[in-house]
Amino acid sequence: MREQQTLAFDHNGKVAFITGAGSGIGRATALRLAAEGAAVIVADVNAEGAGETVRQVHAARGRALAVHCDVRDRASIAAARDAGLAEFGSITYLVNNAGLVTMESLDELTEEHWDLVLDVNLKGQWLVTQEINPTIEAAGGGAIVNLSTVESMVVVSSKGYAQVHYNASKGGVPMLTKALAVELARKNIRVNAVAPGPIATGFVSLEGITSPEAMEFMSQRLLIQRVGQPDDIAAAISFLLSSDASWITGIQLPVDGGWLTR
Ligand SMILES: NC(=O)c1ccc[n+]([C@@H]2O[C@H](COP(=O)([O-])OP(=O)(O)OC[C@H]3O[C@@H](n4cnc5c(N)ncnc54)[C@H](O)[C@@H]3O)[C@@H](O)[C@H]2O)c1
Repeated sequence: MREQQTLAFDHNGKVAFITGAGSGIGRATALRLAAEGAAVIVADVNAEGAGETVRQVHAARGRALAVHCDVRDRASIAAARDAGLAEFGSITYLVNNAGLVTMESLDELTEEHWDLVLDVNLKGQWLVTQEINPTIEAAGGGAIVNLSTVESMVVVSSKGYAQVHYNASKGGVPMLTKALAVELARKNIRVNAVAPGPIATGFVSLEGITSPEAMEFMSQRLLIQRVGQPDDIAAAISFLLSSDASWITGIQLPVDGGWLTR
């Protein structure tokens, strides 16, 4: 693990709606934003994970609420938003973080898994943004960060095959981000994306990503020779949401240990 994180950005008075915050990068983002003064709405299909995130935020004396939210379901998103509004009174930030992948080669990939991955990773970001952005506008504006990946730009085939559905879903995120930035600028809402490299979460398998075999594969790409931690991504998200990034919109920021450099 890395040394204790330095808190740098002021989110006092802000309220963040974070999808997929019951685990991994979403949980680290909830903890970081709460430590920097925001109230966090922990939105996830995994009630147990969301509850644990809230427990950790409360233990650190932050403000958090767990809400059930399936990013594929408009009614579920609206109910989660309304529960968050009832608790905290406004929403100023959105982090479209919920995501998943299934590991299959082209020939094994089913239509069911194609639809699942596209619906959660790409359609879900649009649907949640459509439901939440009027609330951010009503608060006077704010910011949105979408979770992308280096795999929106390059194919990583550590097992000898790509995940074509995952690449396609995340390939849409930088352009969705630009289009949303154009649409929402008039509402005083900035929209950016973060593109992580390999991060130690349970996304695929924590053991897998931290194994010597995985490190040997990754070391050929990484300039900074370690797997990324959820806190590395939370720091970038915190910056892009903050007023320190008030002149940044429409970008995708790689946070990848140099993966995309060569
Ligand atoms: N871990 C990595 O190496 C990595 C690299 C690049 C990008 N990312 C992206 O970062 C984001 C977070 O990934 P993570 O590594 O923290 O994974 P994770 O599996 O730890 O967390 C994902 C969370 O999303 C939730 N989720 C899944 N489907 C959902 C749905 N329909 N509605 C609401 N919530 C749902 C899960 O319950 C889980 O809590 C994802 O978008 C992922 O694509 C991860």
